[in-house]
Amino acid sequence: MKTIFVTGAAGFIGFHLCNLLLDQGHRVVGYDALTDFGGRALKEARHARLLARDGYRGHVAQLEDMAALEGAAAAAEPDVIVHLAAQAGVRYSLENPRAYIDSNLVGTFNVMEIARAHAVDHFLMASTSSVYGAEKAMPFVETQLTDRPLTIYAATKKAAEAMTHSWAHLYGLPTTLFRFFTVYGPWGRTDMAPYLFTDAILKGEPIKVFNHGEMYRDFTYVSDLVDGIARLIDVPPPAPGSGAAPVDGDSLSPEAPWRVVNIGNSRSEKLTDFIDAIETATGRAATRIYMDMQPGDVPATWADARLLQRLTGYSPATDMRDGVARFVAWYREYHNV
Ligand SMILES: NC(=O)c1ccc[n+]([C@@H]2O[C@H](COP(=O)([O-])OP(=O)(O)OC[C@H]3O[C@@H](n4cnc5c(N)ncnc54)[C@H](O)[C@@H]3O)[C@@H](O)[C@H]2O)c1
Repeated sequence: MKTIFVTGAAGFIGFHLCNLLLDQGHRVVGYDALTDFGGRALKEARHARLLARDGYRGHVAQLEDMAALEGAAAAAEPDVIVHLAAQAGVRYSLENPRAYIDSNLVGTFNVMEIARAHAVDHFLMASTSSVYGAEKAMPFVETQLTDRPLTIYAATKKAAEAMTHSWAHLYGLPTTLFRFFTVYGPWGRTDMAPYLFTDAILKGEPIKVFNHGEMYRDFTYVSDLVDGIARLIDVPPPAPGSGAAPVDGDSLSPEAPWRVVNIGNSRSEKLTDFIDAIETATGRAATRIYMDMQPGDVPATWADARLLQRLTGYSPATDMRDGVARFVAWYREYHNV
């Protein structure tokens, strides 16, 4: 049993991860400010459900509040930190770029300081497929160029990846970055397409389909994703000179116990097929308004998830239609519609 400190615990992915870690018998300490982005009511409901579980302790505070963060970490004495709290969202980064600087740069630095102070066995942090920008070579592999971010969201995540490398190098802090693709499933964020589409279709309202439907995403079902995270917790990167051989295609740094791992479904699905799956699951037809591409968006993502497989023996595999059916079932039950 480990004590695992999870930032962003009341968020979509954090909630599923905390539940899985508690199921596995770990002690979990969550930290989340319950910000308004992505559905405040949903965050409060997730937070309340976690608090009701044995082995869970939750703190509601900002990452930028260093005294609160230090207090929570001191009380927790964590063995492992999983840092998921962030200002997420590609589109919102055009509206409110400063929120990304505050949460993703200042906030991440504060969590790095906590990881260093507590000399945790493993520090893990969420990054994003957005760091691959407009790269054409697919599927995206961890060792590929990620130096040309298209949005401030991607730029802050890329910067946070680089910041953690310096701490891993200077302080020998074993660090794993995961790059998530498009994660969906029950308790999903209100700003993301699966929720927006399902909500509109069930209300008989039109949906906006960007790039005239020529969009492809690696849709990753949330239970698969958190399974991958939980497995990576047990695989801290070895220090340089330790004699441990890197695995095939490893992103392991030669200067630090640091690596980056894609967690994706290894399939790039057409957005319109995802909408078809929602139509099937809801039994309703969508009214589609085809629009141009949004600024900062990319037409396609696709994960090469072989490194995750080599490190953990695991690959996400939920079929998109099954995952969508489970999401729609949750949506109907949660909203009683
Ligand atoms: N959901 C996806 O498809 C996806 C894809 C790529 C990367 N990610 C990354 O995964 C992580 C989790 O994403 P999610 O989908 O669960 O998002 P989410 O918005 O549901 O969860 C993030 C949580 O962090 C909290 N938070 C944000 N800023 C904070 C701050 N300054 N101080 C304290 N708490 C703060 C929020 O209240 C929220 O509960 C994020 O780092 C995100 O960038 C998600």
